[in-house]
This record gives sequence, C-alpha cells and structure tokens, in this order.
Amino acid sequence: MKIAIVGTGYVGLVSGTCFAEVGHEVICVDNDKKKVATLQAGQIPIYEPGLEDLIKKNVAAGRLKFTDSIKEGVEKSLVVFIAVPTPPQPDGSVDLTYIEKVAREIAAVMTEYRVIVDKSTVPVKTGDRVTQTIARYTQGKVEFDVVSNPEFLREGSAVADLMNPDRVVVGTDSERATAIMKEIYEPFKAPIMVTDLNSAELIKHAANSFLALKISYINAVSIICEMSGANVDMVAEGMGADKRIGRAFLNAGIGYGGSCFPKDLSAFTKISEDLGYDFRLLKEVSEINRIQKNRFLKQIRDTLWVLKDKKIGVLGLAFKGNTDDVRSSVAMDLVELMQREGAIVRAYDPQGMEKAKSLLPNIVYCNKAEEVAEGVEALVVATEWNEFKDLDWKSMKSKMISPHLFDGRNLLDPQKMRDIGFDYYSIGRS
Ligand code: UDX
Ligand code: UDX
Repeated sequence: MKIAIVGTGYVGLVSGTCFAEVGHEVICVDNDKKKVATLQAGQIPIYEPGLEDLIKKNVAAGRLKFTDSIKEGVEKSLVVFIAVPTPPQPDGSVDLTYIEKVAREIAAVMTEYRVIVDKSTVPVKTGDRVTQTIARYTQGKVEFDVVSNPEFLREGSAVADLMNPDRVVVGTDSERATAIMKEIYEPFKAPIMVTDLNSAELIKHAANSFLALKISYINAVSIICEMSGANVDMVAEGMGADKRIGRAFLNAGIGYGGSCFPKDLSAFTKISEDLGYDFRLLKEVSEINRIQKNRFLKQIRDTLWVLKDKKIGVLGLAFKGNTDDVRSSVAMDLVELMQREGAIVRAYDPQGMEKAKSLLPNIVYCNKAEEVAEGVEALVVATEWNEFKDLDWKSMKSKMISPHLFDGRNLLDPQKMRDIGFDYYSIGRS
C-alpha cells in the first residue's frame, strides 16, 4: 500500500516507520524543512527506543522516504494520514487550524480517489468538517473518503505499541475505505474495530480520559494511605489483581503529564460542555492531578522550610521514563516551582536534557545522575527512569549535605533507603 503521512512528529514518524516495516511504501511529509533535511541525512529528531534502527533499515530498503512537499506525498499515495499537532487553546478547546490547513493543502493537489485518515487526536465531529473542507476545495470533482484512525501509542514504547496494538480503531461509513484500511493493518495481526466516524473520534478522548482517571484515582487513594498508614503499592496490587480493574496505570506518583493526558482531558471536558453536559468527574481528575504535585512540593517545603538559596537535586525531567519529551512534564513544573521560590536546582535526565535546556536554561545540568547529589540538601526523583533504581545510593548520600530523599515516582524501596540513612519520603507509603 502506498501511504503518505503528513506531520512527522512522535505520532507521524513512528506510524510511518512501522507501516514501512510491515512492507508498505511510505512518504513522510513535514513542512519543517530543517526536520526533513535532518531525517534525509539519517538523523532522528526524537528519542524513542528501537526507532532509529527501524528508520535506517526501512530507508535502506527504499520503503521510507521524507519530503517537505505535500503534493509529492498526495500524488504518490492512495492513503494520506494526517498527524499534525492539535494543541490546546487557553479555554481548553482544541486548536484545529493545522488540521484544517492540511485538509485544504491535500484537497488542492488531489486529482483522483484518496483516503484521508485522521490520526491526530481531534474532537468528535472533526471528520465531518474535514470531509466538508476537502469537498469544498476540490469543488466536488474528486472522489475521497475520510477515516478516523486514532493512535494509542505511548511515548517511550511507541514502536512496540504500534507493532502490537491491542486494537485498531477505524471510523468510517465507506466500505471502500474500510477495505483499504484493513489491508494496511492486516500485517499487524490485531483486532480491527470498524465504527462510524464520530465513535472513533470519541474513543480516543474517552480512553485517554479514563486512563488519566485511573491515575488520579490511585493518587487520591495514596492520600488516604498516607493518612491511615496503609501502603498504596499494596492497595494497587490488590485492586489490580481483579481482572475487571487491572494493575496497569495504578502507579501513584506526582501526577500525569505529557502532551496527551492534560490536553485531552481539557478538550474532552470542553467538548462535553459545548454539547451540553458538565463532565464534572473529569474536572476532578485534573484537580487531583494538580493537588498531587502541590502536596509533594509542600512535603519538600515542610522538610527544608525555606527553599531560597537551597541546592536541590532533581533526577528526571522528562514527563515519563524512556522518552526525551519534556512537554507538560510534572518534573519540569516542579523544578520551575522550586526555582520560583529561589531554590538552586541541579538536574539530570538520561534523554531529556537537550529539550529541557531551551525551556529551563537556569538549571545546573549535570552529565551523570551521581553529579546531581553533590552538595545538595535534598534529592527529588521526578521521572520513573528505571536506571535510577540501580544508582549507588550509598555513594549518592555521601555527596549530599543532608540526606533528604523525595521519591515522587515510588521508584525506590523505602526500607532500603532508610537503612542507608536517608530521610525518605514517597507517595502513599509510610
Ligand atoms: C501528535 C498528534 O498529531 C496530536 O494530535 C496528538 O494529540 C499527539 O500526538 P505529535 O506527533 O506529538 O502530535 O506532534 P509533533 O511532535 O509536534 O509533530 C507534528 C509535526 O507536524 C511536526 O514535525 C510539524 O513540523 C508538522 N507539521 C505541523 C506539518 O507538517 N504541517 C503543519 O501544518 C503543521
Ligand atoms: C498516553 C496514552 O497512554 C496513549 O495511549 C496515548 O496514545 C497518548 O497518551 P503517553 O502520554 O505517551 O501516552 O504516556 P503514558 O505512559 O500514558 O503516561 C502519561 C503520564 O502518566 C506520564 O506522566 C506518566 O508518568 C503518568 N503515569 C502513567 C502515572 O503517573 N501513573 C501510571 O500508573 C501511569
């Protein structure tokens, strides 16, 4: 199948690469000429485990190409995926200007039947708008179908998620487009769910909001654990062992971040409001997430008292482990809040420092995790990087002025840390 992907970001680049990997011919289109040149030169603009090798392999095999010309992509491909950003606006609603612009650009160069697939996360009914836009700008002269095919990949495990999806959602009323989409996804050997356009669009917002709700639920439970002396890890295990609940996404911590959950929750709340329903449950999910970060900061403040001029070490800046993405990262928020109170922050992240530097230039960036501990009054674990578990914590402690350790991701063993001599604080575990 000949496929074009418009928008070569986290979603577009990984999707395009995985489509090539299963044998399709893929052209990735991006209007950022510098990014296209980088990719054409064999350099990968994002960190995602396994991605670089797959890109190199498929470029060498001639199945994966990069261009800044949307015309080239549309001319050479039967199916055109849209994977451009859908950022939040101040009122929580979704900015759809890129989607609209790309729909017009596709329409302007379309001369024969094409399937236009929306992969970006969009509000329900966007597909109808895209259909109207393409019909208007092709003046009804070219046949096409619009499909919603939401993407459920997680950053940090994007390649694995894409290659082995739990399900593939295809939203369309067209039999012709359904057959084409089934051919694209057949090699992935996953269940393909065909729905109408609106339902497919809604599935994405409903699923992401539910996952965020699970995290906020366990975070709220973590507060009760702290108040009652229970252990949230054990509670999560016990709850998660029930197949109806499941253990995944019940890790208590300083809250969820990233470019999806916060944005999708606001969007879903606003979409519901516009449709006439006050989805207060979702507002509470966001509120619990905000409180969780502030509770953690209060714990640091209660221990160190005044943060001004205190040296604090932060392990992790990315919004989760295994990624270099620092967008809407709770770790970055925490650093900023501590800096605002005058703290001197030293930090290390295995992949996220390059991207963090442009957002927060005033951090003392360290080359190794061990360096973060030098001369600090407290260490904060802010991102769930597995490698932080294996640090030589005895040696870390010896470099610190005072042994305060705040584990915002429940990554470390409380007993072990206390045996080493740390004054150890984590989430929902006394
Ligand atoms: C994606 C989805 O598109 C978004 O809807 C979802 O909610 C999150 O994931 P992401 O892949 O993370 O976004 O975006 P980003 O990494 O910013 O990449 C988007 C790419 O689109 C960029 O490379 C940008 O240059 C490109 N772009 C943007 C275009 O090619 N054309 C445009 O008009 C706008
Ligand atoms: C999410 C969805 O999981 C994915 O299906 C969708 O396509 C995009 O949005 P992503 O944001 O990449 O993926 O990462 P995810 O693993 O979901 O983590 C999101 C945030 O939740 C991170 O900040 C992470 O630290 C936090 N989290 C996750 C928890 O705090 N506890 C958990 O149990 C799980």
